[in-house]
Amino acid sequence: MIYIAIDGPAGSGKSSVASELAKRLGFGYLNTGNIYRVISFFWIQKGQPEFSKEFFEFIKGKNFSVVDDSVIVDGKSFNNELRTLEVGRVVSKVAEIPEIREIVTRKSREIVKDANFVVEGRDIGTVVLPDAFLKIFLTASIEERARRRYKELISKGIKANFEDIIDEIKERDYIDSSRTISPLKAADDAIVITTDGLDLEEVVNKIYSIYTERMKSVRDNSRK
Ligand code: DC
Repeated sequence: MIYIAIDGPAGSGKSSVASELAKRLGFGYLNTGNIYRVISFFWIQKGQPEFSKEFFEFIKGKNFSVVDDSVIVDGKSFNNELRTLEVGRVVSKVAEIPEIREIVTRKSREIVKDANFVVEGRDIGTVVLPDAFLKIFLTASIEERARRRYKELISKGIKANFEDIIDEIKERDYIDSSRTISPLKAADDAIVITTDGLDLEEVVNKIYSIYTERMKSVRDNSRK
């Protein structure tokens, strides 16, 4: 199978890029952040219990799959439920638990095992799919990421304060990159792309050409 890993911080444009790239290549698309979000949703539903064996077994027993951009759990599609402020507030905490990371890693590998996939997250190139065909680390300056987030909130009619968004992003980056297990960092063999000033299409085109170049050189080498 061919896997393209797309990692990077929140607001780097990962989700739009990964989803668009998957469409262009006819690959499946897995957003692993959504799996952490679904688990957070269940955790909230259960009243935020201690992270115990009982909760881990409950999550292990769930059947995860994806259809287009949605994550499906035991036949139910999850979308808007994953984007609430409440889920946003707890998800970094849930994603810090080693047993949860282990479960998400296993479930993600299981989901992608029979097809070509673009897989998006924080630790795809480093932990989940270390042998991925292509690893991209997307990033952008804090100001650019805050601008995008601000625009997104305003377009949804949600009041937003630019300075607060900057602080939130800094805090989230700190939590995601300083955790001891699977911190957010580019794999040694990842190609880093800074998306400041680039639109969606430009970023997708860039990755698409890196992919086709690499495909071509693999083919050429195999003919030698
Ligand atoms: O991409 P996102 O913002 O929807 O991700 C939600 C949270 O999950 C975020 O705090 C980082 C975490 N995450 C992670 O730790 N590892 C991944 N592979 C994907 C997401």
